[in-house]
Amino acid sequence: MNVEQVDPAAVDWTEPSSSIDAWAYHYVLSDDLDVKCDPGRPPRTFDPTPTVHDLRRPGRPAQLRVSTSKPRSMAAAALSEPRNRAKLMHKFWHHELQAAELMCWAILRFADAEESFRAGLLGICQDELRHMRLYREHIEALGFEIGDFEVRDWFWDRVPTCRTKTEFVALMGMGLEAANLEHTPRFADWFRRAGDEAGAALQDQVGREEVAHVRFAMRWFRQWTGRDDFHTWSEALPKPLTPLLMRGKTINRAAREKAEMTVEFIDALGAWRPERHGRR
Ligand SMILES: [Fe+2]
Ligand SMILES: [Fe+2]
Repeated sequence: MNVEQVDPAAVDWTEPSSSIDAWAYHYVLSDDLDVKCDPGRPPRTFDPTPTVHDLRRPGRPAQLRVSTSKPRSMAAAALSEPRNRAKLMHKFWHHELQAAELMCWAILRFADAEESFRAGLLGICQDELRHMRLYREHIEALGFEIGDFEVRDWFWDRVPTCRTKTEFVALMGMGLEAANLEHTPRFADWFRRAGDEAGAALQDQVGREEVAHVRFAMRWFRQWTGRDDFHTWSEALPKPLTPLLMRGKTINRAAREKAEMTVEFIDALGAWRPERHGRR
């Protein structure tokens, strides 16, 4: 199957309802904020003759100010200010947007993969869209709206470097989404300490729902490689990425075990040190 480099200007915007492929294609490239937040129900079937597309950049609505500079990190104490809570939620909303888009990217990039894998990606995309809605509601409850803060397409800069479906599940599900199993309880604690129980509960919910996304990646990785050990996984990460950004400060062993990571994998992840590798 040929990998097609797509000119976004040449997209047929009129037929997202013709197949899941077209729906995913339309979603990634749309620059309409309403579509990004609610692309409508996807069609039931894939294109019977799927084409591999390698969409290198997503469409970006005018409301989103995309920055390339590294934002300053926030301290827990800053969350006493509603504006800072909204800013952090806005960052999470944008993570979810990129996750939803990148599930669609993978549906198209790995169009020749198993249909049940592609259907699973679509299901995860629906979860990410729902998470976006929950974050947006909370941002608005705090008196802010989408576009009030800059965004950074960090995941888009990295995930499309995956050349195979195995690299994709290694990076996205077993790497970035798995790290969220650690980030969400940490931020839930921050929101709780700031007295924002609804914000904390939202972090708890997203963290709980992330387990299934990680398990999905684990199962496919095991099926395709016949292995699920730390070494095979870290070798599958697209260079120059390392395990460093694929874990939080305190490893969430219980959640990772629920996601079917082995104890040996979790131990090795916790023990891994960057040495000369540098931070990516
Ligand atoms: Fe999510
Ligand atoms: Fe996820």
